[in-house]
Amino acid sequence: MSMKNPLFLQSTGSTNDDAFKLALKGAKHGFGVLTTTQHGGKGRLGKDWISPVGTGLYCSIVLRPDLPFSQFPQITLTAGLALCKVVECLLPNVPFGLKWPNDLYSNGCKCAGILVESSNLTDGEDMFAIVGIGINVNTSLEEFPSELKKTATSLRILSGKAIDIIYLYRRVHDVLLEQVERLVSSGFDGILEDWRKRDVLMGKEMQWVTCDKQVITARAMGPDKNGQLLATDSSGKVYEILSGDVQLVDGDMTEIDQDPSVGD
Ligand code: BTN
Repeated sequence: MSMKNPLFLQSTGSTNDDAFKLALKGAKHGFGVLTTTQHGGKGRLGKDWISPVGTGLYCSIVLRPDLPFSQFPQITLTAGLALCKVVECLLPNVPFGLKWPNDLYSNGCKCAGILVESSNLTDGEDMFAIVGIGINVNTSLEEFPSELKKTATSLRILSGKAIDIIYLYRRVHDVLLEQVERLVSSGFDGILEDWRKRDVLMGKEMQWVTCDKQVITARAMGPDKNGQLLATDSSGKVYEILSGDVQLVDGDMTEIDQDPSVGD
């Protein structure tokens, strides 16, 4: 299995599942799986990732960074930053931003998402993370299912340009490995600083639903050093959001649909 050339599959269930199985069999750091369509594409929080044939980038990359398991959660934000840097370079006239934890947004619509899955997090050589990346590349508005038409976009819709998906894969692969190397050699601070410059939620009022179905409204303060999202409400209470999904109160991200765990 080569690191430079991905395993290319005409069609598959989920490239994350494929990469995970291959990582268990020893696939190396940087090894990727790429496909033109998925019939069981997985999003975060148990959602599906709709993968229309040939118009998106659907890939998963195996990472075996020299990091202790305590730093593995930082890979999530690092991957989002890498993706954002790639599209900023490719389409300098399009404004891109990151929505915690690692969705790529432009003009209030989502154009890409990342699903990171890890092996058992016990320090050692067998520890790995799979970074699964789905980008709406050349997808037209008609190809999105009706429930996504208002909230999803593609690089082509944003720029008017068709983009070579294999070329985009290579850029994503290389910049992801570069940013992971930066994380290993220089730590998370610089990555977090770069991430925060692109944060579309920063300072905005947002809402989420807790496990006991309470709707919380609080102002986003950006991710902390562990990658958890901080928010403060009108009484000054600080929330640390560990996982889940948050939505803006005003603006285009209006749906409240998940249960983040909250600690404080
Ligand atoms: C999200 O935003 O919810 C994450 C979406 C991640 C989708 C990608 S597509 C390639 C890889 N394989 C999967 O099954 N999921 C990820």
